[in-house]
Amino acid sequence: MSLDTQPSVRADARAGTSPAGVAMVEVDRVSKWFGGIHAVREVSLRIGRGTITGLIGPNGAGKTTLFNIIAGHYKPTSGTIRLDGDDVTGLEPHALFGRGLLRTFQLAQEFHSLSVRENLMMVPPDQPGESLLNAWFRPGAVAAREREIRDKADEVLDFLTLTHLADERAANLSGGQKKLLELGRTMMVDAKIVFLDEVGAGVNRTLLNTIAGVIERLHREKGYTFCLIEHDMDFIARLCDPVIVMAEGAVLAEGTPGAVMANEHVIEAYLGTGSKHVRPQAAAQAAAAAKPSA
Ligand SMILES: Nc1ncnc2c1ncn2[C@@H]1O[C@H](COP(=O)(O)OP(=O)(O)OP(=O)(O)O)[C@@H](O)[C@H]1O
Ligand SMILES: [Mg+2]
Repeated sequence: MSLDTQPSVRADARAGTSPAGVAMVEVDRVSKWFGGIHAVREVSLRIGRGTITGLIGPNGAGKTTLFNIIAGHYKPTSGTIRLDGDDVTGLEPHALFGRGLLRTFQLAQEFHSLSVRENLMMVPPDQPGESLLNAWFRPGAVAAREREIRDKADEVLDFLTLTHLADERAANLSGGQKKLLELGRTMMVDAKIVFLDEVGAGVNRTLLNTIAGVIERLHREKGYTFCLIEHDMDFIARLCDPVIVMAEGAVLAEGTPGAVMANEHVIEAYLGTGSKHVRPQAAAQAAAAAKPSA
């Protein structure tokens, strides 16, 4: 069984390489305190270029907080974040967005009064039509750019199989369709790495399959690197390698989906919280499946 625990993950982070390839994001001894709560404790991990890395762990493990730190929404209390080798610790989300680092939120953040297409068209930054001067004096340039962005949005809608909903108000989408729209927003610009926070939560099986398919296509055809938080172990097992497990703010284990789900510390961490997301059967099945190679 190939299972790395925290100390070896740290060693990899320092070396800057791993079997998965060059690190796109390196998190080095990052901590975050909220008053008296130590939400993230000296976390070191790396997300390899071209991987779909899973981040799992019981409720309150610190996963979203770590995403918020990497994507610039929170400043870490201590520690360093590197993107493509550059220290980006404390950069604002828009600066990271400009470097191709995008994230979606645990709760979808659509503009509900706008149409689905308009939600996509809002994403590209610095549109000439946003300036009154341009609108008055360069209407041709504004119209051309808007057409280009509209065509891109229609291409994305086609990719997501949401074309029939292009003119629907985003508020009227189902929970799963809103998650697809969130994924679509990441396709309106040239993303390098996309962080997905529970993109499958509250989504029915059919749409979950569609979302998984979209992630696989973006990874394969557009070369996106992904890091995704998810509680659904089947979803994680289908998409992710490696999987990093957090518990109580720290990294507990890293390895293939089968290996981490069979890890007794991981199972204990889930059972210990009484989490509604506990999947002891899934863990037991994974343990059984992983036994021959253990
Ligand atoms: N803004 C905040 N202020 C104070 N405490 C916070 C804040 N954000 C998170 N926490 C606390 O930090 C800890 C980690 O929370 P976080 O949301 O990162 O967990 P999570 O792993 O994403 O959990 P879940 O699976 O339930 O989404 C929790 O104890 C949480 O209550
Ligand atoms: Mg969370």
